[in-house]
Amino acid sequence: MTITVRAAAKFNLHLGVGPVREDGFHPLATVYQAIGLYDDVTVSEAAEWQVTLTAEDHIALGEIPTGDDNIVVRAGRAIAAHHGIDKAAKVAIHKGIPVAGGLAGGSADAAATLVALDRLWALETSDEDLLSLAGQLGSDVPFALIGATAIGGGRGEIVEPVTDNGSWWWVAVGNEQGLSTPAVYRAFDELAGTEIGDPQVPESLLMALEKGDASLLAEALTNDLQAPALALRPDLAQTFADGAEAGALAVQLSGSGPTVLMLCRDAAHAREVAGAMQAKAYDRVWTAPGPVAGAHVVTY
Ligand code: C5P
Repeated sequence: MTITVRAAAKFNLHLGVGPVREDGFHPLATVYQAIGLYDDVTVSEAAEWQVTLTAEDHIALGEIPTGDDNIVVRAGRAIAAHHGIDKAAKVAIHKGIPVAGGLAGGSADAAATLVALDRLWALETSDEDLLSLAGQLGSDVPFALIGATAIGGGRGEIVEPVTDNGSWWWVAVGNEQGLSTPAVYRAFDELAGTEIGDPQVPESLLMALEKGDASLLAEALTNDLQAPALALRPDLAQTFADGAEAGALAVQLSGSGPTVLMLCRDAAHAREVAGAMQAKAYDRVWTAPGPVAGAHVVTY
């Protein structure tokens, strides 16, 4: 038997970051949205852990490990250990989410693996336990389970759905050179100094989501990691300028980058902005709707 689970990329509509904690993580007040770029994870019975990788066109597989340090193997071992069973599986990942792009592709794969193995091994893990296992695997993994639009607190792992009445359209512009998340957080610490307060989710953003109004959302987007990421990668400023010139309502870095997201009015506008970016010789350009579902079974 094989089980395939699909999981979406995330974009942080708001990413508020506080002063570094004693455990090295940063407190976050973030609003996640799941957007329509997907990885598919297919699991099947096997005596040993095995990971295989394939990808859509224009997605470079880069440096993803396929051994024990791959996050899907950590996810598989974690759910097996939680149930006290000694099993392994073959995990085939098909990537449609750009790698190391700030879109939480690895987290999506981990969430998909938890859901797929739960089904393959008929474990019937409770939602609460799945979320807790997900939180131990990475800050963005619980959100990849629930999808849609949600507030993230703690280090990002405490998720709470929010009302989102919009049908949003995004253009994502990738970059061939990845950015290290810890390096961006370190640059944030250097730029922010010690005088920063606890992060908050702005009311104006929640209002824009409730109204489903793209021009209000355009004004409410914020990302505290954008300035430090741009300090490390000044070349990205050109993508921001090109997005504005292409007619996007707003342009913002995704998470710790380097993928840049452009808010559009609707699907036709997104195609227009994507075409304008391609005409400027960007070759990693995707259109994506949001919000979309969290990790879900797509075939049996
Ligand atoms: O949780 P995750 O494995 O995705 O985090 C990757 C790295 O990003 C952490 O090791 C840490 O350096 C940084 N991070 C952080 N604060 C967060 C989330 C991530 O400093 N809230």
